[in-house]
Amino acid sequence: MKMTLTAIKADIGSIGGHIQPSQRVLETVTGHVRQHQKGLLIDWHVSYTGDDIAILCTHTGGVGHEGVHKLAWDAFKAGTDVAKDQGLYGAGQDLLKDAFAGNVRGLGPAVAEMEFDERTAEPFLFFAADKTDPGAYNLPLYQAFADPMTCSGLLLSPGMFQGFSFTIMDVSHVEADRVITLNAPEDLYDIAALLRDPERFVVESIHSRQTGEQAVAVSTTRLHNIAGKYTGKDDPIMLVRVQGSFPATGEVLAPFHLGAYVAGFMRGSHAGPLMPVRQNTGTSFFDGPPIVSCAAFCVHHGRLTSPVDAFAHPYWDRIRDRISDKATEIRRQGFFGNAMLPFSELEYGGIVKKLADLEERFTVRPPETQ
Ligand code: 13P
Ligand code: 13P
Ligand code: MG
Ligand code: MG
Ligand code: MG
Repeated sequence: MKMTLTAIKADIGSIGGHIQPSQRVLETVTGHVRQHQKGLLIDWHVSYTGDDIAILCTHTGGVGHEGVHKLAWDAFKAGTDVAKDQGLYGAGQDLLKDAFAGNVRGLGPAVAEMEFDERTAEPFLFFAADKTDPGAYNLPLYQAFADPMTCSGLLLSPGMFQGFSFTIMDVSHVEADRVITLNAPEDLYDIAALLRDPERFVVESIHSRQTGEQAVAVSTTRLHNIAGKYTGKDDPIMLVRVQGSFPATGEVLAPFHLGAYVAGFMRGSHAGPLMPVRQNTGTSFFDGPPIVSCAAFCVHHGRLTSPVDAFAHPYWDRIRDRISDKATEIRRQGFFGNAMLPFSELEYGGIVKKLADLEERFTVRPPETQ
């Protein structure tokens, strides 16, 4: 059966700053989907990570389906009305355009979706991150799909021996999607050369070279490309099909033990370690740290099981402690050097005005005095 898995997420307002959405807003979004899904969706699940609400759903309409995208847009609009009524912070933050036009791409919400023939057993993972941007998934994906030190399946599972192809987007290109497809393992160094710069190059999708099947879909929204100014971080979502000719669930989860420093954290302007957290976790320290949740599902004829919270296991408690220490350590460095993002990432924010004002106060010494 050909099935489409669509995840759409947006920040439509939260309690106490950028911490987490209110129960009423969540209920409104869920209620809207429940009320209007008939004839459109097979199943759906609403969750939040930090201040971002995600609608995960199954249907047979294919990717970019207007009806499905409109349903999510309208659910977020309805949620925004409640967020405004409650005086929540940043009500409607990610809904950057007034009117819906065809699908939600380019309107602010993040989208990750893929269409595939359901396998007999179809396990998949839904990741949602807050206080970071889509490049945060670059390293975990490289390690899970191209590095045998992390993914033993590349050596042990014949279905993976041919490797995977990475489609990578240049997200600095505003006018249109600029993409390249590279093959692991032959192009490994080229893949690494791009993925090392996560603010510019972002993994958009990964396919099995053995079967051609899609394994991964990542949201690649850059809100500042849409808004032209800082309106919050892009807070990416990702779908990963696992097992069989794809990496095992544990091989996809394993790289997240690192807590790699990613862009985001306070005001989307700093570097912080990416902490794997339980589903429906808010943010705190310095509006962070950057967090990522993972819900594991199986889907059959479009019907979702209940989610299993992949980062709830006791193993991750120790990891979280270590990552908290990493977060504290880099915050000790304040605004200095690598603790804050380079100007190219800050140029959509208020610091532009400060530096412009200072420009006028610079003087150039005459050569003879130097
Ligand atoms: P089980 O024997 O628990 O199914 O494990 C198989 C496996 O390959 C785990 O990665
Ligand atoms: P969000 O993108 O999660 O709303 O974060 C914005 C921010 O500036 C936090 O300090
Ligand atoms: Mg917010
Ligand atoms: Mg957010
Ligand atoms: Mg955001």
